[in-house]
Amino acid sequence: MNARHLFVADDIGPMNIHQDSTFGLMLHCQDRGFEVYHCDTDGLLGRTSGAMARCRPVQVREVVGDHYTIGESEVLPLGAFDAIWMRKDPPFDMNYIAATYILDGAPATTRVVNRPSSLRDWNEKAAVLRFPELAPRCLLTRNMAEIKAFQRDVGGSVVIKPLAFSGGTGIVALHPGDLNTNALLEISTRNGEEFVLIQQYMPEVTEGDKRVILVNGELGGALLRVPPADDLRGNIHVGARTEYVQLEPAEVVLCEALKQPLKDAGHIFVGIDLIGGKLTEINVTSPTGIREILHAGGTDLAAALVDAALA
Ligand SMILES: Nc1ncnc2c1ncn2[C@@H]1O[C@H](COP(=O)(O)OP(=O)(O)O)[C@@H](O)[C@H]1O
Ligand SMILES: [Mg+2]
Repeated sequence: MNARHLFVADDIGPMNIHQDSTFGLMLHCQDRGFEVYHCDTDGLLGRTSGAMARCRPVQVREVVGDHYTIGESEVLPLGAFDAIWMRKDPPFDMNYIAATYILDGAPATTRVVNRPSSLRDWNEKAAVLRFPELAPRCLLTRNMAEIKAFQRDVGGSVVIKPLAFSGGTGIVALHPGDLNTNALLEISTRNGEEFVLIQQYMPEVTEGDKRVILVNGELGGALLRVPPADDLRGNIHVGARTEYVQLEPAEVVLCEALKQPLKDAGHIFVGIDLIGGKLTEINVTSPTGIREILHAGGTDLAAALVDAALA
């Protein structure tokens, strides 16, 4: 079968070929003899005559500094692709949402990963509210007085999470008695105008944040990301150290509970974050981690993901 794959993603030039999951997926598709195309969201065209993409064929290789060759641009209907990988990085803003409206126009014969309507429905920070028994205590609000009351209620520290970002951007911990409390809340909520997710602080974060890749709801592999000594955040982008890990039995049970809801939502490529055995984030927009798992001797999850997309 000669499948054709479109990757909607940021430019290929700056991609780190050792870390970038989109690059890993492209490489795997190419190794299987599939055609690979790329566009950014500016290539998506929502026409009344049908959804299209102005995109370019691309060849990739694992050579630092010379990792791709890109062809001439062509306009193709979304139906020309067997799979479309929506891998645009946040911000999760109106531009992101508009792109999902265009991807909604793909015919049933084209698998969009992840399903565009579910990308809109499952905000990566707020989606943990769907699983109260798996997550730390949370409050989604833009009311600063409510945040302070919630912090008193949980009796300790909380973490403030803006809804639109990823890679640790805007994530801060708020400790009791911090004289910056009001200022931090004003900055994070833009004076009460913007919703944030407030989450109970998990002290186990110093031991690491586990990234678990779920492929169509099934457990793929996991990485432990240990934050740098001077940072709360266990994101690879801010310099966290990674190691390949096995999950604890209780963590496997947690993943089992997510399996059916993720399958039902068409969330084929998901990366959940676990701290102290609790579900702290559900990454659906452009999860990472498959390259690190592969380099650490784990399975090549790109293969499992492409199989799931074409099933
Ligand atoms: N509830 C929490 N308790 C302690 N640390 C947290 C908590 N939630 C997140 N963090 C820290 O902040 C980092 C980023 O938070 P996360 O919710 O995963 O957002 P993102 O990765 O999208 O920026 C995590 O890797 C972790 O180090
Ligand atoms: Mg995270």
